[in-house]
Amino acid sequence: MKIVVTGGAGFIGSCFVRTALRENWAEHVINLDKLTYAGNPDNLKPIDDDPRHRFAQIDICDAEAVEQLFKAESPDAVVHFAAESHVDRSIHSPAPVIQTNFNGTFTLLESARHHKIARFVHVSTDEVYGSIDAPHDADESFPLRASSPYSASKAGSDLLALSYYTTYKLNVSVTRASNNYGPYQFPEKLIPLMISNALEDKPLPVYGDGQQIRDWLYVEDHCRAIQSVLEKGRPGEIYNIGGNCSLPNLDVVRRILKATGKPESLIERVTDRPGHDRRYALTNAKLTAETGWEPVVSFDQGLISTVNWYRTNQAWVQRVKSGEYRRFYELNYANRGE
Ligand code: NAD
Ligand code: DAU
Repeated sequence: MKIVVTGGAGFIGSCFVRTALRENWAEHVINLDKLTYAGNPDNLKPIDDDPRHRFAQIDICDAEAVEQLFKAESPDAVVHFAAESHVDRSIHSPAPVIQTNFNGTFTLLESARHHKIARFVHVSTDEVYGSIDAPHDADESFPLRASSPYSASKAGSDLLALSYYTTYKLNVSVTRASNNYGPYQFPEKLIPLMISNALEDKPLPVYGDGQQIRDWLYVEDHCRAIQSVLEKGRPGEIYNIGGNCSLPNLDVVRRILKATGKPESLIERVTDRPGHDRRYALTNAKLTAETGWEPVVSFDQGLISTVNWYRTNQAWVQRVKSGEYRRFYELNYANRGE
């Protein structure tokens, strides 16, 4: 099987590409990535010399470039990760989020349709369901109640992807995963930001009261779930992917401080995110029933591996944290302190 992976230089996409080659999920992987601030060739170093991997620096919104690639490669499947993935950035600057997440997905779907690609997995998020009141867990039939430009762009692209099944019979499945964490995650998201700040004895900025709840999924569990959907998922269907691990943010931050051996005095309460969803919660029952997939990495195990990875990969962290990262950090946090 020859797979085009979009966004394969980012956090989850690069994990999928590395694992696909290691586990022989694919004979060839064509990695299509624009290399935005979040795309990092260093994430692909472990597979630099693997002849089964080809990297193509392409913007998914560039219809001609995508067409040419699909024509030249005739892939069997597309696994579509490429996105602007950060909620805070989507609040400061929604235009690139809508452009990539909605229009970019449209471009890929069109090319997949023209080239009669046999399988298309659209990687999405549980954020499309919005905040879920306890004690309910969202299943795939829950209504779409996106709160941020990011989640609205993902909800729109989910509907577009599903319409290509309904209208054109393109073999599309949509996955909706909860919050991922693990090695190689850009340190703008909660867990890598808090780990890298803690390791540098910097303040840990907790939004609002820190009682917002997220479900945490280790990135390798997520990638195995996507592979299960690629292989066994039904066309036109949506599959939730969660880690069975609901925690308030403040608990997560305290566990990070414990794992890094740093004091709780580093916690700094800052102004809340506008439109902040209070609670995400989802059930995996459909995916488990249809494919047998279950998450296997506990939060304690996953967090220790992640902290160890950031400790021993300081060169990666420091390279990523220079330049563009600093500008965003100042924009996002400068006026939040209370
Ligand atoms: P990321 O920000 O780490 O990586 C995104 C990748 O997409 C980068 O390599 C970037 O260069 C590439 N990209 C961005 N715009 C592009 C464009 N126009 N053309 C081509 N490439 C482009 O993101 P991530 O956290 O790895 O998320 C991957 C996917 O998983 C996204 O679709 C996201 O919505 C979804 N998701 C993420 C999480 C999470 O917790 N991170 C959870 C559920 C779903
Ligand atoms: O639920 C899946 C989604 O998880 C993915 O679709 C997104 O791509 C991914 O970014 C993530 O979105 P969140 O907004 O939940 O993740 P983030 O890491 O930005 O924030 C997690 C929680 O931590 C959220 O309640 C906001 C809070 N937070 C975040 C940051 C960056 C803080 O309290 N302080 C911070 O500095």
